Amino acid sequence: MAKHCHWRDCLAWKDEGLEFSTTSNEACKLYDAALTQIVGWYHDKSLGGWDKTFTRLREADPDFVMGHVLTNGLTLCSTSVNIQTDEHLKKRIDDMVSLKANSALTNREEKHVEALQVYADGSMSKAIDIWEDILVDHPTDLLALKFCQLNYYNLGQSIPMRDSVARVFPHWKSSTPLYGYLYGMHAFGLEESGMYVEGEKAAAKGLAINPNDCWSTHANAHCLEMTGRHDQGIKFMTTTENDWKICDILADHIYWHFGLYYIEIGEYSKALDIYDSEILPRCVASNYTIHAASFLYRLEFEGVKVGKERWQVLYETGEPAHFNHLLVYKDLHYVMASLRADHKDTAKTQIESIRQFIRERCGDQRDVMKEVGLPVCEALVAYENGDYAEAVDLLNPVRYKFVNMGGSNAQRDEFQQLLIHAAINSPKKHHKRLARSLLSERKALRENSPLTDRLQKQLLAMHIDE
Ligand SMILES: [Fe+2]
Repeated sequence: MAKHCHWRDCLAWKDEGLEFSTTSNEACKLYDAALTQIVGWYHDKSLGGWDKTFTRLREADPDFVMGHVLTNGLTLCSTSVNIQTDEHLKKRIDDMVSLKANSALTNREEKHVEALQVYADGSMSKAIDIWEDILVDHPTDLLALKFCQLNYYNLGQSIPMRDSVARVFPHWKSSTPLYGYLYGMHAFGLEESGMYVEGEKAAAKGLAINPNDCWSTHANAHCLEMTGRHDQGIKFMTTTENDWKICDILADHIYWHFGLYYIEIGEYSKALDIYDSEILPRCVASNYTIHAASFLYRLEFEGVKVGKERWQVLYETGEPAHFNHLLVYKDLHYVMASLRADHKDTAKTQIESIRQFIRERCGDQRDVMKEVGLPVCEALVAYENGDYAEAVDLLNPVRYKFVNMGGSNAQRDEFQQLLIHAAINSPKKHHKRLARSLLSERKALRENSPLTDRLQKQLLAMHIDE
């Protein structure tokens, strides 16, 4: 982890071309401390973690607009709180906007405020445009770069995510603080764009600079997953576990990747052990149930009986966010947990609420929900009711739009699996043939996938051409 004595003061930031309007060296240093934890995706306990650092940052200079931008931006990008329903967040945004009256604000700071204003109004893509605009003039503005990356991910835009980092790389010196984190960010974009060899190389460079760079670890885990090197993935996760698990904000997701390798090779008890000992406790502690729900759903595709009790925990933990509709990918997992925990009435209410969200709101997530999120939600219900043909008819027309729901290729794969399972189980022969086609496609994309082999074997035993 970074050494605290090196936090940058006002002059140091100015020398890097990132001048701030504050004259408080303490505020500038705390901004650096906060940014360091954000790009490293960990809580520095010696600083009291994110919350304490953010509080100290705002206290050091309450009028330092970038202190507000950093904390509000993270809250908004986490897609866990809604400005329409959360008065506290609304006030925080209003307070930040009021600081625009300060004539000392730099043009870059003004743009940061503007980006969060449009984000709060529902437009992730317009906010990204503003952050990218900042990066044209200030390519070392790591907060703008990180916000871009988080939201390209939320929108499933892998190529812009890759290119965003590539554009700024030449403007950074290797001596600039936090430089090494660019590799992990770039590696993820490369991997999500299908450039696995390049992604792996970039991740290796990031880890050579800082073995605790969990985004490099994460990108490497994706490369190993997508290229079918599951045993190598398990070895990588095992041998580096102490390096990445201290990054407590991403650790639950990296354990999700760890467990995924075991699901692929059919070692379900090991996968479930990782779930119970690592994924679930972290999910409950953070109130973030998405990875956990996704993991249980995949295990159940494999025929593993995970039990309603496990789903009930996820249902209860995720309950406060059931009707937020801030990210389509999240909503799908809330509906999933309601269905599997046998709260079908809640699932019905969630889908009614989603319909209302589509009717009454605007913004990126509303559009994605209408285009693809709602049919997928309805397919989850149809699948649960055993109406597999209906699930196929809902999913198949939108499967090339799954990408718009955000998340990574590996994450969205569960919806491809859902379509394949629905097609296999559908009573229609045409659907079973569709399953065969989809499995051929899957086999071509992932050469070594025992999971695909198992599904092909299952379908072969059905003698669908007879
Ligand atoms: Fe991932």
